Parts: sequence; structure tokens; C-alpha cells
Amino acid sequence: MRTEDDPLWYKDAVFYELHVKAYSDSNADGIGDFPGLLTKLDYLHELGVDCLWLLPMYPSPFRDDGYDIADYYSIHQNYGTMEDFRRFLEAAHARGMRVIIELVVNHTSDQHPWFQEARRSRESPLRDWYVWSDTDDRYKEARIIFLDTEKSNWAWDPVSKAYYWHRFFSHQPDLNFDNPAVREEIWKVMDYWLRMGADGFRVDAVPYLIEREGTSCENLVETHDVLRFLRRRLDENHANKVLLAEANQWPADVRPYFGEGNEFHMAFHFPIMPRIFMAVQLEDRKPIVEIMERTPPIPESCQWAIFLRNHDELTLEMVTDEERDYMYDEYAKDPKGRINLGIRRRLASLMGNVRRRVELLNSLLFSLPGTPVIYYGDEIGMGENIYLGDRNGVRTPMQWGGGWNAGFSTADPEQLYLPIISNPVYGYAAVNVESQRRSEDSLLSWMKEIIRLRRSSRVFGRGSLEFLNPENHRVLAYIRRWEDETVLVVTNLSRSAQAVELDLRPFRGAIPIEMFGRNAFPRIGERPYPLTLAPYHFFWFQLRRL
Ligand code: GLC
Ligand code: CA
Repeated sequence: MRTEDDPLWYKDAVFYELHVKAYSDSNADGIGDFPGLLTKLDYLHELGVDCLWLLPMYPSPFRDDGYDIADYYSIHQNYGTMEDFRRFLEAAHARGMRVIIELVVNHTSDQHPWFQEARRSRESPLRDWYVWSDTDDRYKEARIIFLDTEKSNWAWDPVSKAYYWHRFFSHQPDLNFDNPAVREEIWKVMDYWLRMGADGFRVDAVPYLIEREGTSCENLVETHDVLRFLRRRLDENHANKVLLAEANQWPADVRPYFGEGNEFHMAFHFPIMPRIFMAVQLEDRKPIVEIMERTPPIPESCQWAIFLRNHDELTLEMVTDEERDYMYDEYAKDPKGRINLGIRRRLASLMGNVRRRVELLNSLLFSLPGTPVIYYGDEIGMGENIYLGDRNGVRTPMQWGGGWNAGFSTADPEQLYLPIISNPVYGYAAVNVESQRRSEDSLLSWMKEIIRLRRSSRVFGRGSLEFLNPENHRVLAYIRRWEDETVLVVTNLSRSAQAVELDLRPFRGAIPIEMFGRNAFPRIGERPYPLTLAPYHFFWFQLRRL
């Protein structure tokens, strides 16, 4: 079913997010690198993922884990040489996998030569590449994102004696996208990596490119102009590439980032994520149904990206104050687990290490509309270390085996970029790839199975979504349809067994085939269709007309 040259490949794909530094260390310096990652491509291929999303691998002072870029045309020496990167790309492509990289251009590092030049003097030719002011009271209506560390979006530059604008850390000055030279330069950066073979970009922090007085400085029409410019250049010069937007906004505000199919191919669906966690905790389908019903349709060529966890905190920006309190109470009782407006924990531990709940969340990830994005380590149920500061607790080394440094590196353990998780529950002796490979019943084996099922049909990536409305609100049920295929997903969100009756009259005569076991269930008739579900259990049925 894989079609290599399909420009819509991203609609059927399974994405996997990883940090090169966290994956595999080939030269024993304690930091993962491209030659190391190359040796793990077979693992990723076997897992069944189609596209790797690499976190920033550029030269950087690492004050925001590489999201503070000091050179857009090179890779950090810790990760290897350009040649290593090329070799990795080729090897991924040889296995039919694609690779997208980070485009972090709302801001640069303050160590970037552009900023160093811009701050040198007010007359510098690069001065206008950044956003300066003599006072710190402009754009007052823009919120502060990194609430735990920043007091203002303006920072004082003692060198040129002026304030510069930054939406994130104060060491990340925002580029000035009103300046056409900046746009041209960013296109040059994109073109450079695309020519090298990158398959696209996850574009960081897109709502904040342009500032205007009297606005929130988010989602401005001028920002969309910039994005359409970059997309136009992309389409004129390359085929089958993808742009994925990080716009942490409500669905109605994300919708414009797809444009008329002329901005982003994909955008993350941020609000669905916390609502999946809320629904299992509340044992109620309402949060999921409501947000999906509030999600506007998107152009045919576009796609949502959905995820359960990523390299950041589990963000609670797109929920109400009450919902946020609820999430904190239920999922971050220890205040150490909180950061900014979110929770810095991993999937398995958020689910209390209950395997059935982890499976349930993955079932939703792989069956709701959109392209699923797996966060590295969650496929084996890794835990986090909330004592590591910032969001580092969810960025620890991948746990490959039960031996020295979890098989991640042969360096001295003290030398690793971050300590490996080592507690008896989530530590590498208990949770690792090698031992899960040996068991058909492991989470890893189960993940391979669900990924295989997901990839067996286009209905999941392309199909429509219709909710059923059974009386039992602890059960979530929906139909996915694409061409002549129909899938029914029924999920028990609760910790106890549930019975449900579904109105399946539109499908009368069809036979539900349970997809994991390929068993036929009773034929659908006129009467309500009864099902019983064990705690946290779910069914994926293909509705087959015979
Ligand atoms: C994005 C990244 C986050 C980073 C921020 C600033 O939100 O996901 O990790 O800190 O941008 O670049
Ligand atoms: Ca290394």
C-alpha cells in the first residue's frame, strides 16, 4: 500500500520523534550522535515508523536544548560531521523512511553571528534583522510563554543600549520577519536542507513571527503572508516535502495555518491531547467529542498531527482554568512534575504504569483522525526524572538493554549528557528494548502490532469521523470511513467493565471483524448492537459487507 511518490504520503504515515543526543552514542563521549542513530534505523524500521522527526541538531549553546540555534547551515559537532548526517539520511531513505528536521526561525540564539552583528551598533547592516525598541512597553498585549523564567518579552542589550524582543527565553531574540532579507535568508536555509535530502520541517513557534501594536502578536495576517511565501518557494522548487506547524492554539486559530492548502501540509492538534488524558481520568467521552466537534474541516491535502507526549511539558495552554486545575490535581500531584503551564512527565508514568491504559491511549492516538506522532521511549514505556530541571526529565537516554548505560553508550555513566532512568520501576533494568523484544506480550511487541494495523488501511489517515452517541457516556465510539472502507472504534474509558448498545442501523447486514484477532462478530441487524468491554478495553472493527 506504500506509495513512494505519493505527495500525500504524510497522511498515511506514522511519525516518530527523537533527539539524536538521546538515541545512541557511537564514540563513547556520552552524547548520542548520527553514526549511533544509523545503527538504530533497523529498530525503527521494524517498529514500523515511516518518518523520523529529529529535534534540533544544529550548533547551539544549548540553553534551550538546541532550540537556540547559532548556525543554520551545519550540525553540532557533538552529533558528528555533515558527512555522518548525509550517510544517516541515505540509510533512512534506503529503508523507505523519511526524515524531517527542525526549522526554528522565530528566534535565534543570542550567540548567533547575526545577533552579535546586529547588537554591535545601531548602524549595523544586520540591525534590522531583529526587533529593537528604546522602551520595554511596546506590544504589551503579548502574553509571556515561559512563565517560570521570564518576566517580560523585552530584554535589555547592554552593548547597543536598547531592548530586543523575545517570545521565549531572553537568550532567544526574535527575528524580524517584516524585513524581506530575513525571509529570503530563511528560504535559503530551507532550500539548503531540502537539497541535501531532508523531507521537510517541523516549524517551531509559527504563530509569533510578526508583532503589531494593539494585538496579542499571535496568528497575525502578516505572519500568514510570510508562511505562504515560504510555501510558495517550497512548491516551486521541491516535490513531496512536508511542512508541519507547531501552533499551540485553538483549532479555529490553527485552521488558517493550512490556508487553502497553500501554507502548512500538517499542523499539530494541541487541544485534543490534554482532553484524551482528561477523558480517561474522568471516565467520560465528553472532552474528546467536544473538541473534535469544535475542529473545523481542513483542505483535502492537509492533515492534523496528533500526539500524546513530546519533548516539552504536557502543555495545558489549550484548556480552561478549571480543566487545568483538574489535570494538575490528577496528573501532577507532586509540584515538581509541573513546569510553565504544563506537566513534565512521560506517557507510561502518567498512566500509572497500567499497561491497559497505555494501550488505550495509543489506540486513540492511532485511530483518531490525523497522523500519529510517537515520542521516543514511549513505545517501551519509559518513565521520567522530574528532578532534572527544565524539561530534561523526559529527554533521558533511550533504554536499549539492561547492561552498561542501558546500551546507550560505553562512556562512564558520569559522563552521559543526562543520567539514565535507573529506579526499579521505570529504570533500564526493568524497561528496555532488548527484553521487550524477547516477549510477544511486551508493550513494544504490542506497539508493532498496532502500528502494523494502522498502516494496513488508509481509513485511519484519510477517513472521515462520525461519533456515535450511546447512552453509556463512559464509552467512546466512532466510525471512520474512507472510500469503501468503514471502521468502528469502541473504547471503554473507565476502570470497570462496561456494557453499551450502539445504534448501527446504517450498517445493517454488515459483519464486524475485530481487527487485532481477525474474528467475526455477530451480524449487525435492526436492533441496538450490544457490546461488553473489559476495563480500559477497546475494539477496532472493520465493518464488512458480505
Ligand atoms: C518550541 C519547542 C520548545 C522550545 C520553544 C522555543 O515550543 O517545542 O522545546 O523551547 O519552541 O524554541
Ligand atoms: Ca557521541
